[in-house]
Amino acid sequence: MKTQVAIVGAGPAGLLLSHLLHLEGIASVVIESRTREEIEATIRAGVLEQGTVDLLAQSRVGERMQREGLRHEGIYLRFAGVSHRIALSELTGRAITVYAQHEVIKDLVAARLAAGGTILFGVKDAALYDLDSDSPKVRFRHENALPEISGDFIAGCDGFHGVSRPSIPSRHRHEFTRSYPFGWFGILVEAPASTDELIYAHHERGFALVSTRSPQIQRLYFQCDPEDNLKRWPDARIWEELHTRLAGSDDWKLAEGRIFQKGIIAMRSFVVEPMRYGRLFLAGDAAHIVPPTGAKGLNLAVNDVRVLASAFSRYFKSKDEEALAAYSATALKRVWRAEHFSWWMTSMLHRFHDDTPFQHRIQLAELDYVVNSKAKALTLAENYVG
Ligand code: PHB
Repeated sequence: MKTQVAIVGAGPAGLLLSHLLHLEGIASVVIESRTREEIEATIRAGVLEQGTVDLLAQSRVGERMQREGLRHEGIYLRFAGVSHRIALSELTGRAITVYAQHEVIKDLVAARLAAGGTILFGVKDAALYDLDSDSPKVRFRHENALPEISGDFIAGCDGFHGVSRPSIPSRHRHEFTRSYPFGWFGILVEAPASTDELIYAHHERGFALVSTRSPQIQRLYFQCDPEDNLKRWPDARIWEELHTRLAGSDDWKLAEGRIFQKGIIAMRSFVVEPMRYGRLFLAGDAAHIVPPTGAKGLNLAVNDVRVLASAFSRYFKSKDEEALAAYSATALKRVWRAEHFSWWMTSMLHRFHDDTPFQHRIQLAELDYVVNSKAKALTLAENYVG
């Protein structure tokens, strides 16, 4: 098979890149190790920045998002038992939209297939070759055959555990990592919304987050041991923990409901530099991970792909390589901004093992400053909306 851009991975980065390239008249083939059913059902993030919403709408894959997504103009920081609103829209003129990542995936897969695009699902043993030549290749197993795709370029959009990043020789990779001594326990609940906007809660037992998916489905998280076992968390214990961490002196109360999904998420910060090697370009989680506290992961992937699609377009229109040469540095500027913001939110809101009463008071002092200083609230808001 020959194509212009071979795309490894059908997550938000790979699918959106394929879609944006198609709009520019550039051919691509997407390969994915999981099945279509798996990628369309995997529960991930849910917060879209204004810029992400605008890009999906402008590129004509935003219709269902605009109908079903929930536009939020603020968030709450809850600490010492009281909620404080950060007025995102008043402060920045922008808003966020709550719309699950797997819904974005469904919309993108449908758009690609309707336009006659090629996505090969269930591909095994993918390997990248000749990355520093003019004709890089991907070989893999698919339906008992061993096909090869050669492209002008390869886009590595296959996530943190994918093959793309490790295909870059280690002497050409600089990696920056921080892992956190906690994870998030996430649940999906059939219940009415308890709050009109997301609640980020600081508590001495640890962080908790009240998010949503729809008027009938709520998404809740609480900080946990990353090695913890789902079996140790029967529903009653989960509710008790959430009620404790969200308790307060106001009359707000979390609504309970049927828990139909549970999972534990690891927390990590990670960046690889540069996001390019020869004719391989990395985008999304293949190149960087943020802890979910800033709701940035999906939005960073979208930003990478926006920059990359436009650079490819310039190359294929006029053989101008300047934008491609600038891709890594351009994308990394925003990546590091989001790395800092996500680290900051995580540090301010979580309980660390070595926390002393002093550090706990320092966190409260910072939260108090964020909700009482317009400058500090604006810092949070402009990073949060993107
Ligand atoms: C979610 O709804 O899954 C969600 C919301 C906000 C975050 C992280 C996850 O910061």
